[in-house]
Parts: sequence; structure tokens; C-alpha cells
Amino acid sequence: MVAIVETQNLTKIYGEGEVAVHALRGVDLRLEQGEFVSMAGPSGSGKSTLLNIIGALDRPTSGRVAVDGVDLSSLSDTELSRLRRERIGFVFQSYNLIPVLTALENAEYVLMLQGVPPAQRHERVRELLRDVGLDGMENRRPSELSGGQQQRVAIARAIASEPALVLADEPTANVDSKTGGALMELLHGLHETKGITFLFSTHERLVMRSAERLLWLRDGEIAYDGPPEGNSEL
Ligand SMILES: Nc1ncnc2c1ncn2[C@@H]1O[C@H](COP(=O)(O)OP(=O)(O)O)[C@@H](O)[C@H]1O
Ligand SMILES: [Mg+2]
Repeated sequence: MVAIVETQNLTKIYGEGEVAVHALRGVDLRLEQGEFVSMAGPSGSGKSTLLNIIGALDRPTSGRVAVDGVDLSSLSDTELSRLRRERIGFVFQSYNLIPVLTALENAEYVLMLQGVPPAQRHERVRELLRDVGLDGMENRRPSELSGGQQQRVAIARAIASEPALVLADEPTANVDSKTGGALMELLHGLHETKGITFLFSTHERLVMRSAERLLWLRDGEIAYDGPPEGNSEL
């Protein structure tokens, strides 16, 4: 099996001295290609910190993290940005779409940065927007879309460059539970049809249970790693 993510004894300390916060305390994690993994745990347990470090948005205090076989500590900031752009897709709780761009332009943004020619990227993204259920809404701006629809645009953007890994930090936190369920079905469908590896954090039990593997974080440590039905905290 190919490891898409591998961390060894990962720690993250914010601040120093009396105000130091130990957000991660030695995380060892291996994600194989094609896994669909949820991460849960109390607020402040380190979920966002771990996602940010795996996604090369932040660096650990110590320990090692490799994504798609590349050791992130060996990369310069410029190389990290390139790795983020080419191999990792992100979905955030607050969508993070660009307000002045249409759904199509938002979804193709990463492809544009990568220099994919316009005709080619339009075609690819039109198809993706259909895949995520936004047929006919290509020219709407974020303000003309519901929260669930905006998150669908963000999902299309995250997978447009066919990344090795998609990270989602509480992707359903800002929508009602029915919309959240539909978004999870969408992610699961994309995982099944395209074989995309997903790691997402969540507070919601239904979302946790939709995964094949659940990581439960407590005080910066992985306290449980296994099938959702085996976790006594659920
Ligand atoms: N930029 C930061 N500066 C200082 N402390 C932080 C920062 N980000 C997160 N923390 C702290 O690190 C711990 C883990 O936070 P976080 O990773 O956001 O947890 P979660 O996503 O599980 O709620 C918390 O105690 C939080 O207050
Ligand atoms: Mg968080």
C-alpha cells in the first residue's frame, strides 16, 4: 500500500514558557491511498492543527510529516506552496471562495495558477460542477448561492487539480444537518468514483460515522484509531 500521509512523533507547541500550548503531543499517523477518514474529538484537541500541518499550511515544532512520499521538512516555503497547489486540496468550514469570481472561476482557480490553458480548464471544471450537482450555476457568484452550494464549489475547487489528498476542516459545520448529510454523500461518492483520499474533521456524529476509519483526538494525541462503530465515545 502507498502511504499518502505519514507522520512520526509530530508535536506542535504554540507560544513559549508559561503561555505555551501543546496542541499536538506525538502524533503517529499513516493514511493509505484511497482512504476516507474522519477526525473527531473535543474542541481544542488539535484537529485543525494536525490538518494544517499535514496540509503544509503550518510547520510542526518537532517530528516528521511526509505527504505523497515527500518529507515536508526538506522543502522551502516556495516548494511547500507548490506542493500545496499540486498535491493537496483544501475544503474549509467557511468555504473561502473569492466573492467577485463566479462558481466556474472559483472552481478553476487552482488550475489557472497551474497554467492550464483556459479552454481545457473550463471544460474540466464544467464537468466537475456537474459532478457536484451545480449544473447551470456556473456563472453565479458566491453571494447568489446557498451555503451548501458554496461548499460544493469549494469541493470542486479542491479536487479540480486531481490532488493526492483532500483535507477538509469541519466542512459541514456551517450548514444544516440535511445539507451536511448531502455534502458528505457527495464526498463519499467522489471518494468511490475517483478514488480520492479524504481526511476531514467534524463535530457531528453522523459525519464521523460516515467514514471507514475514525481518528479520535484528545489533548493533542490520537486516543482512538479504528472503525467508527468501535469507538466508545460515539
Ligand atoms: N495560532 C495559535 N496560537 C496559539 N494557540 C493556538 C493556535 N491555534 C490553536 N491553538 C491552540 O491549540 C490547541 C488545539 O487547537 P486546534 O488545533 O484548533 O483544535 P481543534 O481544531 O480540535 O478545535 C487549542 O488549545 C488552541 O487554543
Ligand atoms: Mg478546529
